[in-house]
Amino acid sequence: MPVDYDAISSAYASSRSANRGVVDELLAHVTLGTESKVLEVGCGTADHIAALIDACGCNGWGVEPSAGMRGHAPTIDRLQLVAGTAEAIPFAAGFFDFIFTVNVAHHMQDVAAYFREAKRVLKPDGTLCTVTESTEMIRNRNPLSHYWPATIEPELARYPTVETLLNAMQQAGFSDPASHNIGTPVAIADSNAYRQKAYSSLLLISDAEFETGLKQLESDLQSGPVAGNSEYVCIWGTV
Ligand SMILES: C[S@@+](CC[C@H](N)C(=O)[O-])C[C@H]1O[C@@H](n2cnc3c(N)ncnc32)[C@H](O)[C@@H]1O
Repeated sequence: MPVDYDAISSAYASSRSANRGVVDELLAHVTLGTESKVLEVGCGTADHIAALIDACGCNGWGVEPSAGMRGHAPTIDRLQLVAGTAEAIPFAAGFFDFIFTVNVAHHMQDVAAYFREAKRVLKPDGTLCTVTESTEMIRNRNPLSHYWPATIEPELARYPTVETLLNAMQQAGFSDPASHNIGTPVAIADSNAYRQKAYSSLLLISDAEFETGLKQLESDLQSGPVAGNSEYVCIWGTV
């Protein structure tokens, strides 16, 4: 069943932010300037596209199906958000220099349709990046998989594998397929984001499983910040 992002948009906006490692990866791989046209598909509250605009002054767009998530995006120059989905991107052919997604591939109904749409709306020399998690990364998530191990199997069931994404991207006609793992240690200082279920995997388990993990996390936090990780695989392609 699709996650109701309207329902969790306030929790998401108050507890999630752009991942600095992801932003650095995008900036390191694509040359962007004030003339560049960049699209984040499934932008949510637009944290990542806003960070890119801030870093390089590009022109940014976000496509996002949830009105609640769009409503929490910042109002900044050079950023425009529109309603839409990955499978039907509401832009003309050949419009963008760079398109990316962060934490969205597992929500798509049809990743093959997304890659076809991305290819259509990219310029002939455009670049695509899909930021997601590999099977191993999902199993090793901390805090999520450590405190809530019941999330692992439902997550593996909904996440397309790296191989699936690479194949679908190439089937759509993208070249130069490459994947690059990034990761940073994180220190979890409080349980707010987890208590509010700002991570959609926590909606996939029973109340009892959720409460058990939360109780353990909050107990461990009494001794100080909990050491965790934040790992992603970035899947690249060019038109
Ligand atoms: C985990 S959030 C990620 C938001 C943002 N990319 C970020 O990194 O903060 C997943 C987002 O994907 C959106 N989404 C769900 N289904 C989608 C689809 N078929 N096409 C595009 N976005 C979708 C959700 O509404 C939600 O905002």
